[in-house]
Amino acid sequence: MSSETVRPASRLRGTVRVPGDKSASHRALLVSALAEGTSRIVGLSPGDDVRATAVIIEQLGATLNAAGDHVVVTGAPGALHAANGSLDCGNSGTTMRLVAGFVSGIDGEHVLVGDPSLSKRPMDRVAVPLRAMGATIEGVGGRLGAPLRIVGSTSLHGIDYDVPIPSAQVKSAILFAGLGASGPTVVRERVRTRNVTEHMFSLAGVAVESVDVGAGRRVTLHPGLPRARDWRVPGDPSQAAFFAVLGAVHPDAEVSIASIDVAPERIGFVSVLRRMGADLSLVDVADGTGLVSRSARLSATRIHAEEIPSVDEVPALSVAAAAATGVTSFVSMGELRVKESDRFAGSMALAGALGCRVWAEGDDFFIEGLGAASEFRPFDQSASLDHRMVMAAAVAGAAGAGCTIHGSETVATSYPSFFVHLNGLR
Ligand code: S3P
Repeated sequence: MSSETVRPASRLRGTVRVPGDKSASHRALLVSALAEGTSRIVGLSPGDDVRATAVIIEQLGATLNAAGDHVVVTGAPGALHAANGSLDCGNSGTTMRLVAGFVSGIDGEHVLVGDPSLSKRPMDRVAVPLRAMGATIEGVGGRLGAPLRIVGSTSLHGIDYDVPIPSAQVKSAILFAGLGASGPTVVRERVRTRNVTEHMFSLAGVAVESVDVGAGRRVTLHPGLPRARDWRVPGDPSQAAFFAVLGAVHPDAEVSIASIDVAPERIGFVSVLRRMGADLSLVDVADGTGLVSRSARLSATRIHAEEIPSVDEVPALSVAAAAATGVTSFVSMGELRVKESDRFAGSMALAGALGCRVWAEGDDFFIEGLGAASEFRPFDQSASLDHRMVMAAAVAGAAGAGCTIHGSETVATSYPSFFVHLNGLR
């Protein structure tokens, strides 16, 4: 296990190019594996999570070649097969849930394993709909932890499913299984989660319709295979959130973030930070839309989970709350407990270590801010196999009084060059 000591930064200036979006990277690999011919993917996330998905599609019969700045995938529709060994999803919940849907449509037995963090995460949320489509799925305990044993079938049938917890991973697992099923598949979500799968399916020629219904959405997929094409993966907005918070809470900062995905379901954190008083602008850059974050005085706000579906940005926002004046409420945040670590406890513990008064009531938690990052205490943090807790701690340490993060190597699951980029701003 390695430790990283983050020194306080006196001044932060510069531009960060965050890695390719993790969500789009997983899907580009999986969609390409199902397409006849070759697909080129530019900007794939360099993290271990996406590498796990890449290795798995090769085990299942697709071919992958890295060439300069891109990866070439040769798909194997019709020839995908159960692997000889188990499919190692590492730390990646997205890999395990999407691959569960993907292999449900491939005949044979598939065993999905993960690291100790992933093995604790509930897989019943994908097993329930996939079983209803005709797959056999077994896991450990009542919430079906990994190892997951899936018996896939080429004769799945479409379902009409109302996803009980907003989750792009669950929606996507069902849609991947639906590609090879008989009859249409309908997925209803009560809150609109990221639409990366639907969007990419549609670009690849799959018949998929999406209709907004209140705050939610109904997605209808007609079975069919995607076409091979070239993909350009945009920058990951959830990684940009760390630098947006860093720029906002640091007393002397101007941090630019190069081109990122700005889909509405992904940039809820921008509205939250602006409401807190952040000087944060979306700007046109050569290859899309970037962000610029400058030092600001922040004040407390109320953040509901629905504003930032998937709640990936909460660890970063808890640092913003710690620097703000007043009490920030994080409302309906139960899902945080089943991420790579218990981020509900972890976000509170981080703010607590900085010196804030923190408390919880049911699925809500509260952080009484210190008014400025200059009031943060130095602290030690254990990464708990959670990349986002590493990056949140590093942001707090750089903006405040420094920190030491134990188990910091886990940042490589999504952002191997995070510390290089952070230090490049000094
Ligand atoms: C993701 C969905 C989200 C998110 C994760 C990536 C995806 O999880 O937390 O980092 O790519 O579909 P949920 O589907 O559990 O909300």
